[in-house]
Amino acid sequence: MSVAPFLDIQGLTVRFGGLTAVNELSFQVQPGTIHALIGPNGAGKSTTFNCISRYYQPSGGRILLQGQEISHLPASRMASLGVARTFQNLELFNELSVFENVLLGCHAHGTRTLGAFLSRPSAEIRDFVDSLIDRVGLLHERQTLACELDFGHQKLLEIARALAIKPRLLLLDEPAAGLRNRDIESLDQLLTKLARDDGITVLLVEHVMQLVMSISDHITVMSFGEKIAEGTPQQIGKDPRVIEAYLGKGAAHE
Ligand SMILES: Nc1ncnc2c1ncn2[C@@H]1O[C@H](COP(=O)(O)OP(=O)(O)OP(=O)(O)O)[C@@H](O)[C@H]1O
Ligand SMILES: [Mg+2]
Repeated sequence: MSVAPFLDIQGLTVRFGGLTAVNELSFQVQPGTIHALIGPNGAGKSTTFNCISRYYQPSGGRILLQGQEISHLPASRMASLGVARTFQNLELFNELSVFENVLLGCHAHGTRTLGAFLSRPSAEIRDFVDSLIDRVGLLHERQTLACELDFGHQKLLEIARALAIKPRLLLLDEPAAGLRNRDIESLDQLLTKLARDDGITVLLVEHVMQLVMSISDHITVMSFGEKIAEGTPQQIGKDPRVIEAYLGKGAAHE
């Protein structure tokens, strides 16, 4: 029996003036899988992400989440649909602590005003926030200001904050960029657990091939706004079109 796709991108097109950043892109993400979207710089990966998370309005095509079309919904609706994202350029509250940054992520659930929520979180919420901080391995940095964390830990903090909405779909734009090998290994384990243990569907844009090849169930490759290949890490690793897109014409024959 085939499972309905969790996310279904159909003929997505995005134009910025005369530039077509994404051209008739179609791919499907299966539930509970880690799906990577890769491709050279400027391929249109972040633009695709920004359409799914509803920051950009596509010029054409459809985006369906569990069969429901979301292409017309505002970004503010995404949390309630269980879609969380991190940013290619971090968007943390630098002058707030690790705990407060994750706590802010929980506010999407609540009805209390932000001030009251931040100054007097319930014991239940505090425990939940601590469990997320623990999940990403930052409990010892709970009171550290976000700006004082090293870059790898800031990235993990962003993921903890994204988890605060209890997402069903987690969109990660280059989570491994700038990380040291040790931090990439922690990220590898964390994302694998989120998909395998929690059933969270992960869509990942990433240039760090070591991570992509290790954790992805499926990979979609873009170049110049178009899909040029898709398949398992094994299939993608030896696909001449992919090698050529990354290394230039003729590279696949060398
Ligand atoms: N807001 C925008 N306005 C105009 N052009 C844009 C905008 N966002 C992206 N572009 C252009 O669209 C193309 C695709 O950009 P995008 O950021 O999606 O690439 P990417 O695959 O994420 O690249 P990278 O790996 O470098 O992050 C690029 O030519 C980029 O300059
Ligand atoms: Mg990008």
